[in-house]
Amino acid sequence: PVPRPLAGKRVLITAGPTHEPIDPVRYIANRSSGKQGFAIAAAAQAAGAEVILVSGPVDLDDPDGVTVKHVESARQMLEHVQASLPVDIAIFAAAVADWRVANEGEQKLKKTSAGMPPLQLVENPDILATISKLIGKRPPLVIGFAAETEHLIDNAKSKLQRKGCDWIVANDVSPATGVMGGDRNTVHLISRKNGEIAVDSWPVMTKEQVATELIAHVVKSVADKSLE
Ligand code: C5P
Repeated sequence: PVPRPLAGKRVLITAGPTHEPIDPVRYIANRSSGKQGFAIAAAAQAAGAEVILVSGPVDLDDPDGVTVKHVESARQMLEHVQASLPVDIAIFAAAVADWRVANEGEQKLKKTSAGMPPLQLVENPDILATISKLIGKRPPLVIGFAAETEHLIDNAKSKLQRKGCDWIVANDVSPATGVMGGDRNTVHLISRKNGEIAVDSWPVMTKEQVATELIAHVVKSVADKSLE
């Protein structure tokens, strides 16, 4: 029989970009493809977990055997994440837009001789931080991602503290790496060990291999916790 080490566990995953509307036909977005989050969802499902994937707009097929909720904006993503709790493990791989447009147009904005329409931005809710700091329903294992173009490890370490999650998967998304939209990823797993911050750097892998490796670490952590 195929081993199902996450049987009986509920795993929540966010993936993809978010789209923040400017008006009914325009939006602000980013270059996330959703590939890494979808690969993690497939790997968790293969390990026997019940998987809920909350995804922004992507051009990918829903993974088999996974409950997929498609959303557009950060606020919708947060809503569906909250509605999916409680879960045993939450993995936030989505590239959530930091800002949305405050003065979203009800109608398509028109070009006028008066110049360009001003876009006012307001901060989106931080889904990872919100769920990491939940009292009561906080998942026992919360994993975030850090996509950086400089000072990767330092930024990821401070993100671990600031957001209150258990692990951060840090990846370099400088244009030269081809990570955004590409099939490969070089990541560092940042966690807390005996009061210290530990950095585990993995070699370059496909996004599927990163997913399999991350789920293997999750399986080990779940097994270690059940022995405590
Ligand atoms: O702060 P930064 O966007 O770099 O943090 C990245 C991590 O936080 C990712 O795990 C991402 O999914 C999560 N995040 C979130 N909600 C936001 C912004 C980021 O869940 N509004």
